[in-house]
Amino acid sequence: MSLLEMLQKRHSIRRYTGEAIPEENLITILQAGLLSASSRSICPWELVVVKDKELLKKMSDCRAGSAKMLAGAEVAVVVIADERKSDVWIEDCSIVMSNMHLMADCLGIGSCWIQGRLRTTAQGQETEEYLRDLLGYSDNYRLEAILSLGMPQSHPARRELSDLSMNKIHWEKF
Ligand SMILES: Cc1cc2nc3c(=O)[nH]c(=O)nc-3n(C[C@H](O)[C@H](O)[C@H](O)COP(=O)(O)O)c2cc1C
Repeated sequence: MSLLEMLQKRHSIRRYTGEAIPEENLITILQAGLLSASSRSICPWELVVVKDKELLKKMSDCRAGSAKMLAGAEVAVVVIADERKSDVWIEDCSIVMSNMHLMADCLGIGSCWIQGRLRTTAQGQETEEYLRDLLGYSDNYRLEAILSLGMPQSHPARRELSDLSMNKIHWEKF
């Protein structure tokens, strides 16, 4: 399958069957993240991999409502970065998230990006702080996002190239 075909097929998946993710596939997804491009090749990121069901359930409260799928996920990968190492850690970590999301899809594993940065819990605590308490990363580490992973309950339809908003593309001038 070409990369474009893969991108047409890609979707955010929030419902999982409960079937285990093969360990070698999880490692492949993490490797895809580590292969990401990074400004000045600093790679300021760290990946916290959570499989413990109790912990995943607690993590599902890291946002008011947009992280509930973590309670039914097999794995969560929390992407954090040392902000002292790079002023573009957000961009770097976004590429890590995207590469893992695509790699998961390529392996038939469902995943969803959960926004962490700039978000809060239902009680108003910063998501970053809530997860810092649970996962133990120190103050210099900033939260980017969380990738939930699980075997997909359904496979949404692929997008057709003919449906793309080609008017978003501006040639030579806006
Ligand atoms: C930066 C970013 C933040 C997102 N945050 C969340 C989130 O917190 N919770 C969630 O369920 N989905 C989240 N998503 C997934 C989007 O809702 C999803 O990509 C969008 O609805 C389009 O659906 P698709 O990915 O299936 O094409 C996020 C996606 C991105 C790129």
